[in-house]
Amino acid sequence: MARFSVSIMLFFNAFLLVSLTAVRPASAEDPLAAFIEEGNRMADVLRAGRSVVSNNQSLINDPAIGDKHLSSHVFLQKVTDAYRKAHGTGPLDGDLNEHQRQLIKAQLQAMAEVVDENQDLINTEGMGFKGFIPAVFARLVNERFGEKMGIEAAVKVTAPADLVRNRKALPDAWESEILEQKFRSGDWEHGKPFFESVTSDGKTDFRLLIPEYYSASCLSCHGGPKGEMDVTGFPKEGGAEGDLAGAISIRLAQ
Ligand code: HEC
Repeated sequence: MARFSVSIMLFFNAFLLVSLTAVRPASAEDPLAAFIEEGNRMADVLRAGRSVVSNNQSLINDPAIGDKHLSSHVFLQKVTDAYRKAHGTGPLDGDLNEHQRQLIKAQLQAMAEVVDENQDLINTEGMGFKGFIPAVFARLVNERFGEKMGIEAAVKVTAPADLVRNRKALPDAWESEILEQKFRSGDWEHGKPFFESVTSDGKTDFRLLIPEYYSASCLSCHGGPKGEMDVTGFPKEGGAEGDLAGAISIRLAQ
């Protein structure tokens, strides 16, 4: 598949085969392929969650309705439906190994907790915009997921430093380099993720960065005129449809 950078991965591929199979038996024969699949599935689960917030945004923002009937149970059902609609199967269906299953379950559990903890906000009658938007939801879910997984795994939505609104989303050195040198370079194939094995402080992680772009629906907040306040109180970035908005960053301990 031309979707993935193969540059230095041929080397890591061989490396992974010898170092990993003993640690984590993967259902796929190639452990690198298993990481890629695992990382993409986690990004897709996050996207499904965000889409449920997005599709229910006007309900969430409706000041005339108290109980929105968006319990964590209902929410997770909608996430599963959204995932199934996009991918044909549910997030926990298919040939997942125990580790993959554990990660997806932790993500879904994190979503349930965030939705539970925000019930009072979501159900506040008389309040319109509540700030419970996909980006905030995603950050809270990723933070909760990180608390559950520790050094095992992490999911983050980041962006080039000049676009970052929330400091917690600031890119680390690895993310920044890929965002600036690859995703923002004129010749990077639109939508193509980047991945590689990264070793620091004696610990090796599989890292995956998936670019995200502004669509028309993002521009009420991230579009123009640049500097004008959006509904969330942040200055707009002046972005245009198709511009790089940021990236989903996945880290999996090897
Ligand atoms: C209602 C306004 C609004 C809309 C619409 C919106 N965003 Fe955002 N976006 C925000 C806010 C506010 C944050 C900061 C959230 C936080 O506190 O973490 C944010 C954060 C982000 C981030 C994380 C980096 C950062 O700046 O903290 C990315 C990437 C992003 N948005 C991309 C998008 C994309 C792509 C779309 C359309 C699919 C979109 N946004 C739609 C308001 C919006």
